[in-house]
Amino acid sequence: MVSTYPAGVQNSGSQYLPDLTLAAANRSPNQELLPLTARINHHDCLEIGGCDVTKLVQQFGSPLYILDEETLRTACRQYRDAFKRYYPGESQVLYASKAWSCLAVCTIANSEGLGIDVVSGGELYTALQAGLNPDKLYFHGNNKSLEELTLAIESGCTIVVDNWQELRTLTSLAAGEKLRAGEAGGSLAPRIMLRLTPGIECHTHEYIRTGHLDSKFGFDPNQLDEVFTFVSQQSSLNCIGLHAHIGSQIFERQPHQDLADVMVQWLDKAISYGLPVTELNVGGGLGIRYTESDDPPSVEEWVKAICEVVKDACAAQQLPLPKLLCEPGRSLIGAACVTAYTIGSSKVVPEIRTYVAVDGGMSDNPRPITYQSVYRAVVANQMSVPLTETVTIAGKHCESGDILIKDAALPQTQPGDILVVMGTGAYNYSMASNYNRLPRPAAVIVNAGEANLILRRETYQDLLRQDCLPGRLINSQFG
Ligand code: LLP
Repeated sequence: MVSTYPAGVQNSGSQYLPDLTLAAANRSPNQELLPLTARINHHDCLEIGGCDVTKLVQQFGSPLYILDEETLRTACRQYRDAFKRYYPGESQVLYASKAWSCLAVCTIANSEGLGIDVVSGGELYTALQAGLNPDKLYFHGNNKSLEELTLAIESGCTIVVDNWQELRTLTSLAAGEKLRAGEAGGSLAPRIMLRLTPGIECHTHEYIRTGHLDSKFGFDPNQLDEVFTFVSQQSSLNCIGLHAHIGSQIFERQPHQDLADVMVQWLDKAISYGLPVTELNVGGGLGIRYTESDDPPSVEEWVKAICEVVKDACAAQQLPLPKLLCEPGRSLIGAACVTAYTIGSSKVVPEIRTYVAVDGGMSDNPRPITYQSVYRAVVANQMSVPLTETVTIAGKHCESGDILIKDAALPQTQPGDILVVMGTGAYNYSMASNYNRLPRPAAVIVNAGEANLILRRETYQDLLRQDCLPGRLINSQFG
């Protein structure tokens, strides 16, 4: 079968290599399909971070997440530098660790000066263990448990309050803490931000503005007066700012510009209630390039667009510039990672399609089956070979829908070839499961020819680690 790949593009995996020409110098990782260090070596194999991907699979097994440190650090720096360039006030970029929470990734974000946004006690624990200063930790979530709120207060992170229930719970928890702290001679009013639902809804490539947004997150903006009144009366809470997040994998700039504009108005209102608000967090959401037709703005363009709106809106309202925060996940880490699989069996369904199966699937990347997400792949051991086949890449799970890529343009493959799926840094490991009792893959970080494990491959023993077999079941036999 001849590839149906669009005419005019190179006919091999090399078409996905990052553009390193001077003209492309301002591109950011979120505009590339492969990590910035991707090269083809003289064996026609894909190299990332100076490491031959086929050799990494020999050493660490497959499936294997391969995280390119340089790409991740570049994205962190681009965010940080863009704020420095376009925003004269204070700013802080937070890594949305829901995209991929582990010690190594949190440590890198920290070392690049980023803070971290967490959405659970587990993510908070991970970030704290990675050495994050609680001043740079922000805790989100629409249903934080008492245990999580207590951990948050004790850790000293900022709590992004989502709803009335949480506000009341936190008020009484904080009052108790304050009493205890008072006895000890200190004051522990937890820092909070209020999450508001802006009425801007994004469906990846389009957005709508509505008065009432059907979202489980955040306070309804129609209740601002009530919320601000309540918070202004709580001496046990220190409300430092406002937060909103409108969606993920967004390519337009206008929705975030509208968001920034409306948030400055809310800030003005909060100040009129006497709240000591100085921080504005516009959330995350900048999209990345999963296929050649995706064309997201660069990190710099996105940051610039937001900064300009905030500056203009503050000037118009005669407000001092707030500390401006954003919390990207996908656009920081998405393009920095690929997943390498080993190709196994295949099946030709005459006149319909050819299935080529790999040794992972929906357990290590649930995004195709969950969101119908589209990915691209290359064959790491034949990077320059013409794309003569159109095949469907199937996972190994007992589920017909376990398809990673439909109609992938590939060279002819054989069992043992290494298939690399690109753009798997965000919401892959973090959403991975043990479905069908598959052990979760290992992850390595690569840099300048060195590869180090950052997550061990799970073993069969790991799979049984939480299993309990009550004694009365042990001798229970049939009949
Ligand atoms: N802040 C908040 C409050 C969020 O809810 C999210 C993502 C982010 C920041 C980071 O957004 P990003 O920059 O990564 O777009 N599992 C889905 C994505 C869910 C995103 C949820 N919230 C996926 O795989 O596409």
